[in-house]
Formats: sequence, C-alpha cells, structure tokens
Amino acid sequence: MDPNIKIGTDNDEILGIIHTETLLPGMILEADAYTADHVKKIGKEQLITEDLINSLKSEKIEVLYYTPHEDESQESFKLIEIETKDLYPGISLKGDAFTLDGRKIVGRDDIITTDMIKSLEELKISKFIYKKPSYTDFYRLDKAIVSNELVEKSVTLGKEIEDCVQKKVPLPKKDIENIIEQLIGEISVSEAYTILNLLKLKDFDDYTYTHSINVAMISILFGKELMYSGEKLKTVGMGAILHDIGKILLPKEILSKKGDLDPDEWEIVKKHPQLGYEIIKKQKDFGLEIENAVLNHHENYDGCGYPLHISGNQISEYTNVIMISDTFDAITSETPYHKSFPISNSFLAIQNLSGSKFNPRFAAEFINLMPQRLYGRPLITQNSYVMLNTKEVAQVIRVDPAQSLRPVIIIYINGKMEMLKYPIQVDLQIDKTRYIEKLIEDQQLLQTLEIIKKK
Ligand SMILES: [Fe+2]
Ligand SMILES: [Fe+2]
Repeated sequence: MDPNIKIGTDNDEILGIIHTETLLPGMILEADAYTADHVKKIGKEQLITEDLINSLKSEKIEVLYYTPHEDESQESFKLIEIETKDLYPGISLKGDAFTLDGRKIVGRDDIITTDMIKSLEELKISKFIYKKPSYTDFYRLDKAIVSNELVEKSVTLGKEIEDCVQKKVPLPKKDIENIIEQLIGEISVSEAYTILNLLKLKDFDDYTYTHSINVAMISILFGKELMYSGEKLKTVGMGAILHDIGKILLPKEILSKKGDLDPDEWEIVKKHPQLGYEIIKKQKDFGLEIENAVLNHHENYDGCGYPLHISGNQISEYTNVIMISDTFDAITSETPYHKSFPISNSFLAIQNLSGSKFNPRFAAEFINLMPQRLYGRPLITQNSYVMLNTKEVAQVIRVDPAQSLRPVIIIYINGKMEMLKYPIQVDLQIDKTRYIEKLIEDQQLLQTLEIIKKK
C-alpha cells in the first residue's frame, strides 16, 4: 500500500484509509481508527465484532482513517498489494480490492474475468490493494503450485509439441518426460494448500497447451493424493499433457470460436481423441496406457461418451484420473465456450457428474482429497450455506468427513424463495432425493441469510 495516501484533514496529516465495508468480524486493527472529524471509533488491537460493524454502518460511517505504522503499515491492516499482471481469469480475491487512492474496483469473491483484467489495464491501473480477512487462514492466493520457471519451460514444451505435430515429425519424448519429472518433483502434497499459478496463462489462443499443462499438474496432484508413486505418476502426467494433442490438427477457427458450436463443428471437435491416438500410436514408445488415455478421455462411465462408447471398468484408472482433472480445469477456466465456474462449485459439478460421466469411486476421491489443495479448505464445513437441487437454501449443521457432501442441514428457504416459518432439518445421507448443487459464497447474500435466520 502506498504509505502516502493523503486525506484532506485540517493539519494535512498523512493518513491511511479503511473502508467500513471491508471490515470483517474477527479482525484486529493494529492502529487506532478515526472518523474524518477525529472521533476514535476502533481502538488499536480491539476485536472487531459484527455489532461494531453494524453500528458504524448505522451511523453511515463509510471510511475510517488511521496513522500507518512507520515501517509496517502494510502488515498492520493485512493490506496486500497486487499487480494487475498477476491476476488471472477464474480466481477471486478474498477481500475487496481498491486502487491506491481508495476506489473499490473488485468486490471480495467476485470472479476475475478476462474482461475485468482488460478494463483494469485500459484504465492503467497496474497495482491495487486488497484486504485479506485476518480471521482465517483458509484462503491463500499467493502460493504457487510450481515455480514460474517450470511453468515457462512447460509452455515452451507445449509450443514444441505443437510444432512437431504440425510438421508431422516425432514428438520430443525425452523433453516431455523431463518436464513431467520436474512437475512431479515440484508439486507437493505436504503444503496445506496450493493454487494453480498456471491458470494465469490461460489465453484463448494458447488454450490447448496451457490447458494440457494444467491438466498434467492437476492429474499429478490427484495422483499424489491417491498415493501413486514413480512410474504411475509419470504415466498419468504424460497421458494428461498429451490428452488433447489431437486438437492441434483441428481448424483454429472452430477451437477459438466464441459461442456455441453447430452440430457439424461438434462432430469435428469430437474427432480429437482419435486423431491424438493416431499421433501417439505412430510413435510406438509411449505405451498402451498413454495411448488409451488419449483415446478414451471423453468416454463416460455410463457409456454415453465418445469415440468408442466404452463404460465402467473398461475405462482405465489413469484415464479416470485424467478425465476428472480435464473437466475440472475446463470448468474453472474461461474458454471460448464458457465463462469460468468458481472453484467451489466446480467441485460440486464433478460430484454431480458422478455415476454418469465419472466413475463414482474416482469422483468421490477427487471431492474428498482435492478441495484442501485447490480451494484451501474442505468444501463443506459446519455453518456453510448451500443451495440444493430443489433450489432450497439451507445451512450445514453437521458434516461427516467421510461423506462431506451429504451433511445434516437446516432448510430455511423453500424452492420458491419463501422463508419457511418452521425451518426443517434434513440428513442428506438419508434423504437422497436432495443434493447440494451450489455453495453460497456471495458475502451480501450470506449476511442476509444470517439476518433471516435470526428472525
Ligand atoms: Fe479432449
Ligand atoms: Fe482437455
């Protein structure tokens, strides 16, 4: 944060600014905060409560001022400086973001889109600050899954693969193995969390290979969570990085088309597993497992996929790991076909495809193991608000860790958006007609729900 934010006070003292709407219960400020007319409202190290925030709001106090610490003003308020170039589509900031002169530009939990980044760049906003909630360490945005250096090497390899396919020369197998080995070396499951830094590379033009590298990283992470080691991880990583290789041979206009593809165009896109398989098969040394993963990554557990319509156990273990990682990356990214889903709801989307698209065993493992890594915490926790398939809104009151997506809930709002006079408790392990469709994360909505609940 710019320590020289200047507020027009009487004595022209140099002050920092804090917006009431960015205060969160549980925060502690490390300096006294005053109104514009010098009335102290929050003491240094005073715990901020909901009541305190509400009373500031009822007095219509929108901003408070403080004297930044000489040398650690950033730390004091947990204001984090971010550069626009570090944003990437699909992420959300866990605090409101402001320009250095205090204008709010992105709300907490708003999903960052390509358009949003473009407009910040157009406005020449290269840097801004955001307030990280200090009451929880669940959310971390700043931990990269692999080093930027390795990301760059992977992208160079992606381009090399594309070149080889277009020139119809053998793929650089040694280089691919080398990158996969480095990814395996760097991707750690000992971290409490990780966020994919590769997501920022998602660019429509380069989508196929940035997507492929992401799928390799997610598959390796998933493989590690499944306790795979050595050769198994390597096979899964190789299959993942090559899974969409057939797309290189598809017309660029179709791959980068915005909006819906027509049926003929879909038929062309659906050829990529077979095309990829032929590329890999020609070069005999990749092996059956990798060939199968490339050919079968769009097959479905229920037999409704393509190209061979195989099902169930005919789909290999490696292919299952890659299929889920592929879908997860596709729905968390912005592509020409669609806007990105928030990470949390992407996990639920995987769950909701369990038994149809995905083998339930692998879907369940993904849901149980991966949110801690890619979302920074378990998906459903006590007190989470959720929307069900019935469009009812409920709060989670008890979670069984072995079946975390089937908690005990209390329904407060029915499917017609009406408040229930008598909220109902439901155990989702017993009532299988209902399931969680969405996690409610919109802060304003959450606050409203809290108020409704107390009535
Ligand atoms: Fe594909
Ligand atoms: Fe894919």
